[in-house]
Amino acid sequence: MHVFASRRLPGGALDLIKGGITVDVWPEPGPPDKAVIMEGIAGADGLVCVWTDEIDDALMAAGPGLKVISQMAVGVDNIDLAAATRRGIPVGNTPGVLVDTTAEVAWTLILATAHRITEAERYLRDGRWTRETTSLELLLGRDVYGSTLGIVGMGPIGQAVAARAQGFDMRILYSSRGRKEVAGAEQVDLDYLLRESDVVTIHTALTEETKGMIGSRELSLMKPTAYLINTARGPVVDEAALIEALSSGQIAGAGIDVFETEPLPMDSPLLQLQNVVLVPHIGSATVTTRSKMATLCVENLMAGLRGERLPNCANPEVYE
Ligand code: GLV
Repeated sequence: MHVFASRRLPGGALDLIKGGITVDVWPEPGPPDKAVIMEGIAGADGLVCVWTDEIDDALMAAGPGLKVISQMAVGVDNIDLAAATRRGIPVGNTPGVLVDTTAEVAWTLILATAHRITEAERYLRDGRWTRETTSLELLLGRDVYGSTLGIVGMGPIGQAVAARAQGFDMRILYSSRGRKEVAGAEQVDLDYLLRESDVVTIHTALTEETKGMIGSRELSLMKPTAYLINTARGPVVDEAALIEALSSGQIAGAGIDVFETEPLPMDSPLLQLQNVVLVPHIGSATVTTRSKMATLCVENLMAGLRGERLPNCANPEVYE
């Protein structure tokens, strides 16, 4: 059997592929073009991919022998799941193992945004911190403790963010599809959450339903002192509307790990704003977590090649 991998996986995980299976790995650190993946899967039984690869129906058509698509990511919005199901291809993903890391990165952005940490560092590095500028109002931020946290999407990551908020003595609101009981937190509708929260943090998957769910109307409901944090997927937020809300002072700031277009184009107006903390999609980027994700990814791959049910399958309806 043969596998094409669009990346070298961290921690040497591809070495776990045993049993006479050949593996063709894209050798660069960055992603290959779509045409390269199409060529790579022409005679392949399995595809290993990541969230930057667009895996649509046309691409799958180039791999008629594919028995499994195994993605190293929890989010699978880059994959046409319906097409994979139609073609009888199970799609693996890597939930669970990144929950605490992503919650930690969300919290890092919450605190960094409210305390203006990256802006303050730029200030210092630029040589603007002088005796003359040392006023008692220099770079004042806002307290997170005791304020209201609004969690949009209360899956495992949202719940891990909520658990950490207990230590900050926060009132915790959340909105979620369907009723859900979470101790110490109150389920409310999205509009109420946006009106009441001092920090709004997004933890929902990107789907047709959630695309653009935070647009200009939603941003206009937020307090002028509130922050928006996004470690989920860029397109959940209408980025142009967010830029407008940040520039006009409709909201106080944002901490953003994910963007409509990644890598973030260097001409993005976001880069001109001081009240945003911007990081390059690092929500799961720790040594341990990326290694666990890679191992899970290979476990899904091997199960698929053996014709067994994937331990973590994003389109379980393929088995119906
Ligand atoms: C990364 O963004 C993931 O979905 O795991």
